[in-house]
Amino acid sequence: MPWALETKRSAFGIAPVTPSSAFFVRNNLPAPNESIVANRDDWRFEVAGTKQNGSMTLGELKALPIHIVATVLQCSGNGRAYFSHHPSGSPWATGAAGCGLWTGVRVGDVIDKFGGSADNKLFLTATGAESLPEGVDPNSLVVERSVPVEKGLEDSLLVWEMNGEPLPLIHGGPLRLIVPGYFGVNNVKWVKRIALTVEESGASIQRSGYRFRDIGESGSPAHPSMYRMPVKSWINGPGADDSEPVNPGQHTLYGVAFSGEHGIKKVEISADGGKSWFEAQLVGPDLGPNAWRSFVYATELKLGTYRFVSRATDNTGETQPREATPNERGYAHNGWYDPALELKVITKQSRESKPELATSSATALAAIPPAAISLSPLAARGKDIFIGKAAPSCGVCHTLADAGSAGIIGPNFNQLKPSADQVFSAVSQGVGVMPSYSKQLTQDEMRALAAYLAEATSG
Ligand code: HEC
Repeated sequence: MPWALETKRSAFGIAPVTPSSAFFVRNNLPAPNESIVANRDDWRFEVAGTKQNGSMTLGELKALPIHIVATVLQCSGNGRAYFSHHPSGSPWATGAAGCGLWTGVRVGDVIDKFGGSADNKLFLTATGAESLPEGVDPNSLVVERSVPVEKGLEDSLLVWEMNGEPLPLIHGGPLRLIVPGYFGVNNVKWVKRIALTVEESGASIQRSGYRFRDIGESGSPAHPSMYRMPVKSWINGPGADDSEPVNPGQHTLYGVAFSGEHGIKKVEISADGGKSWFEAQLVGPDLGPNAWRSFVYATELKLGTYRFVSRATDNTGETQPREATPNERGYAHNGWYDPALELKVITKQSRESKPELATSSATALAAIPPAAISLSPLAARGKDIFIGKAAPSCGVCHTLADAGSAGIIGPNFNQLKPSADQVFSAVSQGVGVMPSYSKQLTQDEMRALAAYLAEATSG
């Protein structure tokens, strides 16, 4: 199943590069097999939409001029947990973001090598090499994203190194697209094809997925795609996740601030919910307009409970709002109020250290043998739809012991134990690469499915 690993707040350091080992992971589909990084230089990808279409290997790519870019990668849903309407998807707080150093070549140079763009191309479209289950329309699942062609040619890179080491498989190795300053989904992993195209990809992850829209609306090409990341910041410590005792005395708060393509001008700190603000100090090297900037703020803390917030302003004057704009999928959270650092200042006591990655849905559990579950009439109807009517059938992608299914593309329901609301929302709207069923199932049928999953996984 696809991985979703969130970086713990206390695992973020003060220096502006996030170690690869602590970097969040968010995959839309299961990663390709390890074998694709066995001979990295042999990795071959296709180039299309140029005057002479063809293909090249990673080894050949390395002969083009090399560039290194620092950029934040952030999942569109980072901060989703703070929205009060409980959007479906991973409930990320602050940890679905990291800043990395990426080594590669400009997509523009690759395109030039193939004779330059063919006429009228408006998008750079990149395709990932994940394998797709049989019996499902590839367009509904394939991870293929398009970005405006100027962005694709001017500053996007095809990279093979992350933070000075070969790009790990889980982060898209051997070869990944980096679109600096754009949300994570555009930075396609395991690139097997790049193309200049007249239209945006027809894949649902582009057409309907990752679209910013009002609550209750389905995504469509009319809604803005998740491209540039707006200005954002948060405080990482000390004392996040109850990781270390915070004693009374002098302390230095630290955190990160970034704004896609714009760079950070200033960061302010408040301890009284935004009534008064104090300017923090930007520290360390400025790694460019797409990297995050570390900030520090020295303060004296007495015994008690604090709620510190930070508010960043970028070099174009864009400032974080107090609240993020509510939207169907909980994307692009950048309000300053919610991701506060809650601090209890107490006298010293020792605590155990915690692992760096919090698992939200990483461990695939084997199917639990079905207990005798008695279903309500509504849930029994839902079971028939789960097994029979829904096409593709839910079990193609999901594991559910009661239905005898063992799909590995989506979450294991015996482990996820979804609520009825969660199921209804996923089935009617679609989630990530999961298709929406609203055109083939009635509201009642979707409610029956929701009842079935809730009952079949309770207890
Ligand atoms: C083609 C594969 C596929 C099929 C078929 C499919 N799903 Fe999914 N489903 C997924 C994937 C992948 C995810 C994880 C999405 C993500 O978080 O990116 C998911 C997530 C979910 C979730 C969790 C949503 C959340 O809140 O995180 C629910 C509930 C769900 N699916 C229900 C269903 C039901 C019910 C059916 C059948 C009507 C179904 N799925 C059919 C692939 C599929």
